Amino acid sequence: MAVGERDPVTGKHTTGHEWNGIKELDNRVPRAVFFFLLATILFSIVYWVLMPAWPLGVTYTKGLLGIDQRQTVEKAVEEAAAQRAAWTDEIVRLDFAEITKRPELMRIVRESGSTLFGDNCAVCHGTDAKGSPGFPSLADDSWLWGGNPEIVAETLRIGINSTHPETRFAQMPAFGRDGILDRPAISSIVSFIRNNAEGIDDLGPLDMKGVEEGAQLFAENCAACHGAEGRGDPAMGAPDLMDNSWVISSDRASLSRTIWQGRQGQMPHWEERLAEIDRKILAIYVTEIAGRKMEAAQ
Ligand code: HEC
Ligand code: HEC
Repeated sequence: MAVGERDPVTGKHTTGHEWNGIKELDNRVPRAVFFFLLATILFSIVYWVLMPAWPLGVTYTKGLLGIDQRQTVEKAVEEAAAQRAAWTDEIVRLDFAEITKRPELMRIVRESGSTLFGDNCAVCHGTDAKGSPGFPSLADDSWLWGGNPEIVAETLRIGINSTHPETRFAQMPAFGRDGILDRPAISSIVSFIRNNAEGIDDLGPLDMKGVEEGAQLFAENCAACHGAEGRGDPAMGAPDLMDNSWVISSDRASLSRTIWQGRQGQMPHWEERLAEIDRKILAIYVTEIAGRKMEAAQ
């Protein structure tokens, strides 16, 4: 190792390090790099003093600024809760008609309603709320019990044929099985319904005598619950049989089966499982997706 050796080309000292005949010049660290390093070192020292930095066993150096991420998060959570409390109070306090007139509350109703619906209702009523055979669509304005938010909120609270002591009770009697009507009579009633209901195009060959007889049998056996015109009775949860919305289906086999063996659908009650405000939000959410004009309760 030749100490103090100079490079013949530049005239500068070498460090004495040599790799395959290439020697390293003893240049100073470039100024820019030197100052950059200095600045970062100074920065870290200032940072250590001001901010939480070094672990000390069970504790740590807290820093002079007293910044604590945990506190920052707690504060943010508190602020969010305070903000939430403001609109929660409003939704709890106001009645349905007033809430629907307030766009800022309706925005919250739509957001939370959609989440609540997805978490609790979509399993049965479908993610699009359009239902499936046995589970009614909530996305059309055809109702068993009525579609203003107060009624829907009550349906949610007590359920239908549920275990709640105040449950709504609905039962379609088993006319065939209980020997009230025979098969030809049921067939005539089915013809009558399918001939008169909206939106049934695939009627097949119609026996007009059956339809007439069916009308008569309907008046005698069904009108008490489903109404003289078959338009349903929300007071009993009896569906409109003349509209284009069916809990099960409008085909002959489904209708005959319902009339033969009766029906008692079950909708769970939510009084203990969802807070009152969540049920209120859902009631408005459901009524709105059904496309109903928001009107004051009757
Ligand atoms: C376990 C399945 C199930 C779940 C979960 C469920 N429902 Fe239902 N729901 C039903 C059935 C079945 C009916 C129809 C009952 C009948 O035929 O009498 C119904 C009926 C209803 C009705 C009455 C509709 C009308 O026409 O009057 C409303 C409103 C309703 N559900 C809303 C909801 C909401 C909101 C949720 C979520 C909190 C929910 N349901 C969760 C099964 C369910
Ligand atoms: C005691 C009252 C009552 C009588 C009488 C009654 N129904 Fe019903 N019916 C209901 C109720 C309540 C439902 C809804 C049951 C449910 O969804 O849980 C229903 C449901 C139905 C459905 C299913 C509709 C759908 O959307 O899927 C049909 C069809 C029907 N009834 C036809 C008849 C016919 C036809 C008669 C006469 C032979 C009749 N009902 C007599 C109460 C009655």
